[in-house]
Amino acid sequence: MKKLVVAIDGPAGAGKSTVAQMAAKKLGYTYIDTGAMYRSVAWKTLQQGKPVTDELIIEVVKDIDVKLNYSDGKTVVLADGEDVSALIRTPEVTAIVSQVAALGPVRSKMVELQREMADVGSVIMDGRDIATNVLPNADVKIFLTASIEERAMRRYKEMKQKGFDVDLEKLKAEIAARDKADSEREISPLVKAEDAELLDTSNMSIDEVVEAILERCR
Ligand code: DC
Repeated sequence: MKKLVVAIDGPAGAGKSTVAQMAAKKLGYTYIDTGAMYRSVAWKTLQQGKPVTDELIIEVVKDIDVKLNYSDGKTVVLADGEDVSALIRTPEVTAIVSQVAALGPVRSKMVELQREMADVGSVIMDGRDIATNVLPNADVKIFLTASIEERAMRRYKEMKQKGFDVDLEKLKAEIAARDKADSEREISPLVKAEDAELLDTSNMSIDEVVEAILERCR
């Protein structure tokens, strides 16, 4: 079977990582979570214990070593050799990650790494600019979305499960703000590629979405 390159983009909470991981497992492909890479830079920036400025972020990205180790259907995120897989999912990291991801020097370093990882084929990569910028020649391009209410509810349940004390309305406002920042930034904004297929998952189960992705890979 051909070694496909699959690009999945969409806003926060659309379910990209959940379905991409499941589809990758079924296909025996590698899953590449590009959001985790931007989150790692955000995490290391916070570790500096200084006010978060663009200058500080650019300083941090210069010498950060970000690696995604994928095996047995799980991704371990390493920042300078430290396992930050859980540390990059905190509300503190989420609060600054759009600022981090809007900066040119951050994007160019991460995009280069992402292209190297996809080079071998048999990969599913998710993010915001995969089909439009990182892998414009991807074999399958999907733009995954869902209503803001549904996305906020999904994140709410996910955070609750992880033990975070979250407020649904606040989450909704945060997601809307992140959508706006990610869609309106100058460099590689979140936008559906012309040749990507739009998949609105508001009323779809996880299994249905995974099946829709697999269908496009057949
Ligand atoms: O998917 P996520 O929530 O983990 O992504 C974290 C942030 O990184 C999100 O606000 C947008 C940004 N991002 C990006 O700009 N480009 C990508 N390819 C992936 C994520």
